[in-house]
Amino acid sequence: MARMHLFEFEDLKWFPTSIRNYGTDFLQFITNKFDFYKGVIPILEEGIKEAGNNQIIDLASGGGGGWKSISKHLKDKQPHLKIKLTDYYPNLGALKRMQEFDSEIFDYETESVSALDVPEHLKGLRTQFLSFHHFKKEDARQILQNAVDCDSPIAIFEGQVRDFPHLLKNFFSPISVLIATPFITPFSFGRLFFTYILPIVPLFVWWDGIVSVLRTYSVKEMEGLVGELKGNERFEWKIGKHKEKGITVPYLLAYPKKA
Ligand SMILES: C[S@@+](CC[C@H](N)C(=O)[O-])C[C@H]1O[C@@H](n2cnc3c(N)ncnc32)[C@H](O)[C@@H]1O
Repeated sequence: MARMHLFEFEDLKWFPTSIRNYGTDFLQFITNKFDFYKGVIPILEEGIKEAGNNQIIDLASGGGGGWKSISKHLKDKQPHLKIKLTDYYPNLGALKRMQEFDSEIFDYETESVSALDVPEHLKGLRTQFLSFHHFKKEDARQILQNAVDCDSPIAIFEGQVRDFPHLLKNFFSPISVLIATPFITPFSFGRLFFTYILPIVPLFVWWDGIVSVLRTYSVKEMEGLVGELKGNERFEWKIGKHKEKGITVPYLLAYPKKA
């Protein structure tokens, strides 16, 4: 299946913030409920070890994604770990709730942070969950180039593979939105209204979910991006798909080679 970079509502500047946030809240609920990233914890641990400062800089954090459950797994083995959540359009309400969830570990940037040009003061293992597919080839390459230029380790994880079964799964995502919505916090009449009365949220999750599958980079395409980077030989690159309990997570882990 060829990669198609169609638009996602979530990326449109004019798209109402509250509706975008209902979407990222839904993603956060689902990924934590199903402990979606449990299988890739060892990959994250390898990246944290290579960063060497117990600091994760999460890029394109949205509503916090799967970090509640991931942090529980990491905390036992990495008691001093700090996770800074950032986004180009920071969902401040959700990021604040993440900090309240565990203030020892979570912190967030209030200013916009672009994954393409991460400010110098943000040092640590860069992570990206469920967001690499949002970037066109030149921007995706720039994300990796910026990490290489800054000598920063980076770990990227996706939540879907570009294939027919994932397309089919995402075709039925509005049903999950309808079932999950009453359990998503914080409670909001707007969320209920735009889900059950005027069903904009299920429709936008449906469209963005299908387009996400069509935009997802294959392992070969990620390897191709890496091949085009200046200075790629200074880094160790691990690219693949982790499969466990019916969940497939494509990933890319990169860190500077030891001298
Ligand atoms: C699918 S969402 C959130 C993914 C989230 N990490 C998760 O696991 O639920 C993708 C996010 O990318 C953010 N984004 C878009 N362009 C960006 C950029 N240039 N730099 C950083 N974040 C960006 C959006 O604001 C949005 O929150």
